[in-house]
Amino acid sequence: MNRESALAVTRRLIEHVVADTTDLAEAPWVEPAENYLDPEVWEREREQFFFESPQAIGFAGDIANPGTFITTEVMGKPVVVTRDKEGALRAFLNVCTHRGARVAEGCGKAARLVCRFHGWNYELDGRLAGRGRSQDFEPVPLPTGLQQLPVSDRGGVIMLGVRPEMGQLRVEHAIDDILPAFEGYEFAKMQLVGSDRFEVDANWKLVTNLSHEGYHFATLHRDSLAPMMTGHGAADEFGLHTRWAFPFRGIENLRDKDESEWPSYPYAAVNHTLFPGTVIVANEGNAQMIRVEPGDEPGKSVVYFSSVGVPSVDGEVSDADRGTYEFGRNIFEREDLPAAAECQHGIAAREQPVVIGRNEVVVQMWHRRWRDKLD
Ligand code: FES
Ligand SMILES: [Fe+2]
Repeated sequence: MNRESALAVTRRLIEHVVADTTDLAEAPWVEPAENYLDPEVWEREREQFFFESPQAIGFAGDIANPGTFITTEVMGKPVVVTRDKEGALRAFLNVCTHRGARVAEGCGKAARLVCRFHGWNYELDGRLAGRGRSQDFEPVPLPTGLQQLPVSDRGGVIMLGVRPEMGQLRVEHAIDDILPAFEGYEFAKMQLVGSDRFEVDANWKLVTNLSHEGYHFATLHRDSLAPMMTGHGAADEFGLHTRWAFPFRGIENLRDKDESEWPSYPYAAVNHTLFPGTVIVANEGNAQMIRVEPGDEPGKSVVYFSSVGVPSVDGEVSDADRGTYEFGRNIFEREDLPAAAECQHGIAAREQPVVIGRNEVVVQMWHRRWRDKLD
């Protein structure tokens, strides 16, 4: 965020800490239990929010240099993103047009993508470059190039459409409203520090909501996060997307200094959530992404957790950035995810609505969005 916004957020957080308040919703919210349990609701969410909406899948720094690629899975589909020699960003299904094996593994630098099964190889722009005994495959009236997907890296965030018919424009403009909030963060320079994939026995909304309130810090994270952070939060909406900042302990000491001496980034964690449920925690010099997808049934989800940092001049990731990644990942895996799974189990047992407090304002913002956006 720019300096002016950073100062404004800092002022709000200091006020909240001093008065022991937080941003509030107008009233408590009641969410029907079926929204965590019903296969029909879940299926519509999968379709409309995940297959038919652009998804944030990484940071531009993951694929900064010409001739590089990254791979991932999006809604169970293998995906490869490339930066060709001219610097153009492209995305494809990571599926060979011969028999369907993958054409790339992991990430790295490559002149071409090569399928390890029979060796068909592809330019980074997706065109078939070569195959053994090519004459034996002609004539076959099928496309030979990789199936292209719409992709964009505006604001340093890689946005992808998992279905080609979503169209490039839709993907390119998906996060327009929140782009100003990303100003100043160097996502395009940050390199991968580490990544994990978790399978969780909880509805994707419960998992996404883990990153939406600090009400649980003093209890669930009493010995881990709470000594460092407080649950006083400042919440903002940017069209479909949201931002929620919560302070490091001691932020109120900034009152002893003139605002001109305040840091350019808030002394706080700043969580941005991009529709439908990817959280970007942005800090000066590093960032984390928590991408949550529905799993195989309403009570299951898949989480991709990754961390990036601006490397030092010799290209190395710093120990501090590695430490930030491990600290965040461990708390998330050991404390947050088990809590979400417990809630899912409990909601299924009780089948009563779930109450969301005024103090859980970002949780409410998201339930309102999900409700309003579902046809
Ligand atoms: S499946 Fe890729 S070359 Fe055969
Ligand atoms: Fe948490």
